[in-house]
Amino acid sequence: MAVSLWSPLSLVATLLLMLTLAGAQTSSDPFIHSRAAYYPNSDEQGTDRGACGFGSFGATINGGDVSAASDLYRNGVGCGACYQVKCTNMAYCSDKGVTVVITDSGSGDRTDFILSRRAFGRMAQTTDAAASLFSLGVVDIDYRRVSCSYPNKNITIKIDENSNYPNYLAFVIWYQQGRKDITAVQLCETQNFGCKLLDRSYGAVWTTTSPPSGPLSLRMLFSGADEDDQSWVVPINNIPQDWKAGDTYDTGVQVNS
Ligand SMILES: *[C@@H]1O[C@H](CO)[C@@H](O)[C@H](O)[C@H]1NC(C)=O
Repeated sequence: MAVSLWSPLSLVATLLLMLTLAGAQTSSDPFIHSRAAYYPNSDEQGTDRGACGFGSFGATINGGDVSAASDLYRNGVGCGACYQVKCTNMAYCSDKGVTVVITDSGSGDRTDFILSRRAFGRMAQTTDAAASLFSLGVVDIDYRRVSCSYPNKNITIKIDENSNYPNYLAFVIWYQQGRKDITAVQLCETQNFGCKLLDRSYGAVWTTTSPPSGPLSLRMLFSGADEDDQSWVVPINNIPQDWKAGDTYDTGVQVNS
């Protein structure tokens, strides 16, 4: 009697548990096998001269857990994307690995990632294990794209130092959360709403000659892995009329997916 009551209940509990697990799994991609090396420079962090054009952000963002990518660089579209990277040698490597932001382009011997030294070491279980990983130079890894997370940060526009007010405007976009790509950027006038599509000049750097004048309303196209998943995001704050090379502007918005 007790058994016949118990069994359906435990079956329901098991089914519920399985459904929950299935739901959790669909929220992230499967891991892909590859290889990773580390930057040959002596810096712990990345480089502020990375191909993405992020400047200092490219070296120090995410605590310096950054990486150069080869195919995943995708002509600059991959700049700012986040990946969980874990080495697979069970003697040395932690389960979680490290989460890195792509800030540069670069390739090694069949590698997908050239990690900052800091990020490379953080895949290890201990500092001794890290020393062993460093002596290997290139290691087998599993990786997957994950959401970027910048607590207490809004998407921020950094006007490139090479900009020349008012004739030439270049900028990069910092602190984009989530796991989508910014695939197009427009600048619109706030008064007569004329818009101009910008060019990706290299990496994450968007440029235009003769930008629209007045305060500028930015529009960013966010694209997901699925072709239909495209949406324009329009910040709350405008880029001020008298924008200056080197300045940063808080857009007042953030994305999470
Ligand atoms: C982000 O933008 C909102 C306005 O949308 C603002 O209230 C908030 O202070 C900003 N956060 C930071 C960290 O600047």
